[in-house]
Amino acid sequence: MSQLKAVIVGAGRMGGTIDDEVRGERGFVLPYSHAAGYAEFPQIDLAAIADLDQDKVKSLQDRYGIARGYTDYREMIDQEKPDIVSVTTPGHTHAEVVVFAAEHGARGIYAEKAFACSLAEADAMVQAVESNNVKFNMGTLRRWSAGGNKAKEIIDSGALGGAQTVISFSCGSLVLRR
Ligand SMILES: NC(=O)c1ccc[n+]([C@@H]2O[C@H](COP(=O)([O-])OP(=O)(O)OC[C@H]3O[C@@H](n4cnc5c(N)ncnc54)[C@H](O)[C@@H]3O)[C@@H](O)[C@H]2O)c1
Repeated sequence: MSQLKAVIVGAGRMGGTIDDEVRGERGFVLPYSHAAGYAEFPQIDLAAIADLDQDKVKSLQDRYGIARGYTDYREMIDQEKPDIVSVTTPGHTHAEVVVFAAEHGARGIYAEKAFACSLAEADAMVQAVESNNVKFNMGTLRRWSAGGNKAKEIIDSGALGGAQTVISFSCGSLVLRR
């Protein structure tokens, strides 16, 4: 497999520090942040990171040995021409970053939840990703959690009758602890 070049937009918790919050907690598997995840793959070169906050950029550059830092993600994507773009900014920015990345050469985009903040944003993201043939993943990884799968199994079995409403109280420990 040839080397892939990745960049991260957003130098916050999911960008690179959330591992410190969950380390040692039962039910969490490390690496958790995008930067820590990329560090596990020799096939991926995490070449650059962008954030509006220059101090956060510098901090994660130092922590993960990321060669270049930017305060403008557009400039980063234009200059770096990455294969993969991680989007770890707040939800209200996901659409603009995903659309920009898809329209500027990204081959794969991994955007954190929430997907979008309106149907119009969601439509624009789908359109940009599909028309540019970009592989897209959204970070709702709890869809594969043991607790979620068990709940689905019980609902599918019909043991509770037909599902009328789903109310989800999200708590990693509660769902994952046995
Ligand atoms: N998958 C998970 O388990 C999980 C956990 C926590 C958060 N999240 C999601 O990850 C995303 C980020 O959350 P967080 O807790 O890491 O937030 P955070 O505030 O720690 O980090 C977000 C960073 O994005 C930067 N930013 C904001 N707008 C920007 C822009 N236009 N350009 C560049 N940088 C910009 C901020 O300065 C900040 O450093 C959210 O969408 C959140 O829902 C997912």
